[in-house]
Amino acid sequence: MRKKVVAGNWKCNTNLQEGIALAKEVNDIVSVDDVVVVLGTPFVHITEVAKTVTNPAVSVSAQNCAAEPKGAFTGEVSAEMIASTGAKYVILGHSERREYYGETSEILNKKLALVLENKLTPIYCCGEPLEIREAGTQNEYVIKQLQETIFTLPVEEFKKLILAYEPIWAIGTGKTATTEQAQEIHKTIRDAIAAKFGQDVADEISILYGGSCNAKNAKELFANPDVDGGLIGGASLKAEDFNAIITSY
Ligand code: PGA
Repeated sequence: MRKKVVAGNWKCNTNLQEGIALAKEVNDIVSVDDVVVVLGTPFVHITEVAKTVTNPAVSVSAQNCAAEPKGAFTGEVSAEMIASTGAKYVILGHSERREYYGETSEILNKKLALVLENKLTPIYCCGEPLEIREAGTQNEYVIKQLQETIFTLPVEEFKKLILAYEPIWAIGTGKTATTEQAQEIHKTIRDAIAAKFGQDVADEISILYGGSCNAKNAKELFANPDVDGGLIGGASLKAEDFNAIITSY
């Protein structure tokens, strides 16, 4: 059975002390054994948060990593560095990285390889902008994002991934995909995985929904057969709200 996952993406929020306090609160409040809870913290926080988290249900994630293994790349943080902190996950291909930092499929393929090489789990994001949704071509757009990146992986590597579908028009906007919209595209993604790698593989991959998912709408979104959890931005910054999402199954 595929895993249920609720991953927080703190983005560029919280100073170190606030981040440790938030991680501690989540660590203490979470009481589930059937949901994988992930805290996507800023790089600076990862080591301390990894030390703070003792709850076996909770793991730590980076939000990005360098596209090169090491060397003269000022300001970059490598996958190997992230792995050495005790973090287990790396969010890759978030729309904010693609849009503001020019992350292309080519760059993401380099990052994916390094993350997997360092035995970290990628939480790989895909999703369409508003104009694509309005044109009704979101399925083709998202499948192309997958074909250019994770669909080029060998099946044994692909099986290690978690996917996150995030409609860009719903991120941080308070707009959420309707439950039908979420189910439709999650099913489309799963069918494309089945066509590429086989139904068994598709059935085991967790596909998370992201985009203004919160304590109020999580239950309805997570009730969809092809929605296996959420990638949560704003609502992951308060432990109680985050926990309400985690307990929404
Ligand atoms: P949001 O962000 O929940 O604040 O919309 C989701 C994300 O970008 O991962």
